Amino acid sequence: MSTHAFPKNFLWGGAVSAHQFEGGWNQGGKGMSIADVMTAGRHGVPRQITDGVLEGYYYPNHEAIDFYSRYKEDIKLFAEMGFKCFRTSIAWTRIFPNGDDPTPNEEGLKFYDAVFDELLKYGIQPVITLSHFEMPYHLVKKYGGFRNRKCIDFFVRFAETVMKRYKDKVKYWMTFNEINNQADTSIDFFSFTNSGIIYGDGENREETMYQAALHELIASAKVVKLGHAINPDFRIGCMLAFVPIYPYSCHPDDVMLATEAMRNRWFFGDVHVRGEIPSYIKKYWDRKGFNIEYTQEDEQALKEGTVDYIGFSYYMSKVVSAREVEGSEFDGEFGRIVRNPYVKTSDWGWQIDPVGLRYSLNVLYERYQLPLFIVENGLGAKDVVEEDGTINDDYRIQYLRDHIQEMKNAIQLDGVDVIGYTPWGCIDLVSAGTGEMEKRYGFIYVDKDNEGKGTLERRRKKSFYWYKRVIETNGEEL
Ligand code: BG6
Repeated sequence: MSTHAFPKNFLWGGAVSAHQFEGGWNQGGKGMSIADVMTAGRHGVPRQITDGVLEGYYYPNHEAIDFYSRYKEDIKLFAEMGFKCFRTSIAWTRIFPNGDDPTPNEEGLKFYDAVFDELLKYGIQPVITLSHFEMPYHLVKKYGGFRNRKCIDFFVRFAETVMKRYKDKVKYWMTFNEINNQADTSIDFFSFTNSGIIYGDGENREETMYQAALHELIASAKVVKLGHAINPDFRIGCMLAFVPIYPYSCHPDDVMLATEAMRNRWFFGDVHVRGEIPSYIKKYWDRKGFNIEYTQEDEQALKEGTVDYIGFSYYMSKVVSAREVEGSEFDGEFGRIVRNPYVKTSDWGWQIDPVGLRYSLNVLYERYQLPLFIVENGLGAKDVVEEDGTINDDYRIQYLRDHIQEMKNAIQLDGVDVIGYTPWGCIDLVSAGTGEMEKRYGFIYVDKDNEGKGTLERRRKKSFYWYKRVIETNGEEL
């Protein structure tokens, strides 16, 4: 047995999304995206979705951290850390400003040519998400977002355009970021960011959600098939938010509830990987009287466009209980989430559970036997710049070290096929959930606060040097 956990070509890197770090929201012919109409919130205060860009509101994604004009400087820092890959997304609205435009925007295409060339210059592979919470706002206003099946064609056209353009620059693609977030229909942010949907009064949220999600799954499958025709070497994956749900106790009702709750994750993975709608979902739709429309051609498309690998984010685990638990309120998804008494939480209330990563890798691999790519993981925390300018983020190092160790266990002890690891927000950026700048994930500090003030200057944190060494030693030294 090899004593080295990680294969030689393991893809160490970092991850971001266009709307959270590029800025330049209306530059270079870019159109307005759904991220451009979201204000800043904070922990416990949701971001507001306004009807277009309105005066008197602060929209943190408009400038973000201005990678748009600083990409050379930032990529140089990624190269200094030794990144083998860099995960970002292509802002749909840089390419098709309205989503239904007859021709793409050449200036937008040129921007990504320049970014990918700069990455490749340092031997860093771009890993590209096609849709990361940033669909054109026009598609929301005119078509109602992904509840309308016309969006399938708009998305496929966008994907085809960029896959053809960058066919020799990008090998790893993912279709829809955290496609399963929307399964929690109690939170408006999820339906809006996943599908551009604002639920109407009295609308059956769940039925709409399943219809929109199915449209996305069909669109994704079409893109997988098309992508393989454009370049057979492409590796095209899905992207799941993998938050495993544990039963609170060994009471059979808790175990069964956790099994049912996990279908909010598995439905998406099962369609992406197996190319068919699983029996438990069809039964659920029947029971609820949902009328989810799809054709035989759609079913055929799902079959023909199964993914090559599974990209997923892992931040935390959750627990469900069928019965009241003393000292814990029911909360969140399913209205049955309770606190896990065995783990700590971050300042934003996310349960920190490194073993949950090994668990997730195992259940995903046992179910699908496909390569796994951890494309997000990390700790959102407040950082302090010391008087001497240093940022000693030992808490972040600890979080990442513990998680990498569990990933290593999954590879070495369990034989799981993991192809890469790209911690989230490798450079500080705008939080998706809250719109804050001060919920920081980065190895690189960006001088900007929650009100948008700051010089945007970049600084290496202590974790920068730590992660550099992890990559240098291929994960041997943590
Ligand atoms: C994932 C998203 O949900 O988690 C990212 O793919 C997001 O876009 C990340 O930024 C962390 O969440 P947050 O709310 O802390 O930014």
